[in-house]
Amino acid sequence: MSLIAKTEAANVELPRNCTFSESDWQILSSYWHPVAESAEITDSPVRVYLLDMPMVLFRTEEGVSAARDVCMHRGGQLSLGEVRDGKLVCGFHGFEYNGEGTCVGIPALAKGSPIPKKLRLRTYKCEERYGLIWVCMADEAKTDLPNWPSLEDGSGNVISSPSYVINASAGRRVENFNDIAHVPFLHKNSFGGPATDIAPYDVVVTEQTLSFKTDIVEQTRYVGGGSEGPAYQDAVYEYELTLPFASSVKVFNPGTGHIYRVYDIVSPISSGKSKVFQVVLDESRQMSAEAVRAFNKQVNSEDSPQVEAQCPHDLPLDLRDEVHIPADRMSVEYRRALARLGLGAAAYR
Ligand SMILES: [Fe+2]
Repeated sequence: MSLIAKTEAANVELPRNCTFSESDWQILSSYWHPVAESAEITDSPVRVYLLDMPMVLFRTEEGVSAARDVCMHRGGQLSLGEVRDGKLVCGFHGFEYNGEGTCVGIPALAKGSPIPKKLRLRTYKCEERYGLIWVCMADEAKTDLPNWPSLEDGSGNVISSPSYVINASAGRRVENFNDIAHVPFLHKNSFGGPATDIAPYDVVVTEQTLSFKTDIVEQTRYVGGGSEGPAYQDAVYEYELTLPFASSVKVFNPGTGHIYRVYDIVSPISSGKSKVFQVVLDESRQMSAEAVRAFNKQVNSEDSPQVEAQCPHDLPLDLRDEVHIPADRMSVEYRRALARLGLGAAAYR
């Protein structure tokens, strides 16, 4: 019995028990997704999942490598092994692989005997950027990583927030992050302002991004951490979403001049489970890392129960399947953009 199934169309290796339609899997596998925080990958191999595929991440002098978490010898789980002298060592029979996935050592093989050429791991393109490890499973990536120069040019303090798992599809979770109408309700105990009508806004659509800007009234209580000052303050939110699942929002408070950005990237573990990575850039350099992490934790815990419960689990890309109001302009454009990528096609055949 084969461990993986090969599609006829592109000879792409689908994971066993794949929870995506084959076409969705092929499309999503050609984009970059974060799979771990940089700080998690140190001197031991780590197992992660992307698009139902179990992967091993390991760090050598050349950087971080990603491979299917299966030893080519007897199907051992490589992440149960170790990293030694810059090589990934399978814990089962000690087979050694370099960062490119080539087997370079077999303890049981007589000295001087050639190592079989077939002993190569199925590696994936892997990049370390923005404090995260990104993987693209296809041989050719459809796009580059999201372009976030502010995170790298010293514009402010970069604060990483712990990643977390949500039992929701990536599409539902991304839409939630970019949905301003839910803020006064789900976030009434953190930053949500009074429930008022939302002024019409435009969404700027490019091939890879969707962006919009909105004025909002938000609670101030989390900024000062106390009860002093006004309960509410004006804010301007500028959203930019890089398809398919990487969002950012720039928050500007005109009253205080405070500017910060939240980067929120959703990585599809499976069709119904996602890992969320968050990085905050405090351009005004006035937020403590602890306060940011505590705030993110609270906001995420306010969102998760609803997002995990949304029915259906998948984001419906046929606009007739749910009902939209003008405030949902971004959601509508997001669904259209995902459909343009070819996603969801199997559901509407
Ligand atoms: Fe929310």
